[in-house]
Order: sequence, then C-alpha cells, then structure tokens
Amino acid sequence: MPTSVLVCYATRYGSTEEVAETIAETLHEHGIEVVVRSVLEVQNLDQYGVVVLGAPLYMFHLHKDALHFLTRHHAALEARPVFIFALGPIHTDEKEFQGASQQLEKELAKFHWLVPEETKIFGGKLDPQTLRFPYNLFMGRQSASDVRDWTAIRAWASDLAAQFHTVVAP
Ligand SMILES: Cc1cc2nc3c(=O)[nH]c(=O)nc-3n(C[C@H](O)[C@H](O)[C@H](O)COP(=O)(O)O)c2cc1C
Repeated sequence: MPTSVLVCYATRYGSTEEVAETIAETLHEHGIEVVVRSVLEVQNLDQYGVVVLGAPLYMFHLHKDALHFLTRHHAALEARPVFIFALGPIHTDEKEFQGASQQLEKELAKFHWLVPEETKIFGGKLDPQTLRFPYNLFMGRQSASDVRDWTAIRAWASDLAAQFHTVVAP
C-alpha cells in the first residue's frame, strides 16, 4: 500500500500553487509523507495512497489542467481517496463563496465516477496588473485582492492530516 500523499495543483497565476504548498507543508509538519507537484508533472499515481487536487475556477469552470488530470488518471483516482480544493472568490462575500461552491460541484459532476472524500473552496487572489488577454478586458478594472485565508487553509490541512494517519500511516 503506497504511503505517501500527493498534493497536486493546476494554476494560471500561481495563487493555487502557493495554497498547495502550504497544505503540503502543514501535512509534513504533522508527520505525513507528502509530495507536491503541478498536475502537468504527474505521470502516474502508483506511489501515492491519497490524492489532494487543487485548482482555480475560471469563468465558471475548473482550470482545464485539473479536468485533464481527472480524465487522464480516472482509473487510479477511482482506487484512492481523493480530496479536492478550489480557489475562486476574490471577495470575502458569502454569496461569492456559495457561487464558487456550486461551480465546483457542477464541474465535478461531469466525472460521474468521482466521489471525493471532501471538497473545499478557498478565497483566491486577483492581481489585475498581471492579467493577460483576454482576461484583462473584463477583469482588468477590478481592484487587486488576496482573500486566501491561510489560517483556514492550514486548519483544513491539519484535519486532512488526522484522516490520513489512518489511511497512509507509515
Ligand atoms: C478572468 C478570471 C475569471 C475568473 N472566474 C472565476 C469564476 O468563474 N469563479 C470564481 O470563483 N473565481 C473566478 N476567478 C478567480 C480566480 O479563481 C482566482 O483569482 C484564483 O486565485 C486564481 O488562481 P491562480 O492564481 O492559481 O491561477 C476568476 C479570475 C479571473 C482573472
């Protein structure tokens, strides 16, 4: 039985990668053997007992690299516990969080075989200065924001660690 946890992420501007790294760091602090990788770097899941997948929402969809990851690793993911987090809301508005939650649910429903152990929405980051075409056209006038709640992110990772000790305990 593989004993390590894979924390993998899709990202366009890096904010999801930073969240994935913090989750991996927290798991490591709790004694979990963990590897953090871009979904683009993952060849297979053989060495991992659990998968944590993170991706941002863009235009009501999960980042395409995450969708491709789910398709590519269908069989292996079906055989492992999978935990999914998504970044999205760029304000701390409850409605925005609910909307993001619905978007994530809808996206994951496309994968009828996928039954995540947990899903989680975290606030995201927007830096309008860095947006490239065509996103700069409709998001470029927004104010910069970063509503990633690092306390909530670490708390979620600590909860996961407690669960993982029973699944991938060395
Ligand atoms: C053009 C654009 C479209 C976005 N669309 C959504 C969306 O539909 N739903 C949502 O919750 N967040 C949306 N966001 C917010 C992003 O998910 C957020 O900025 C996230 O932190 C980006 O992650 P990344 O830095 O890893 O690429 C959008 C952001 C941009 C720039």
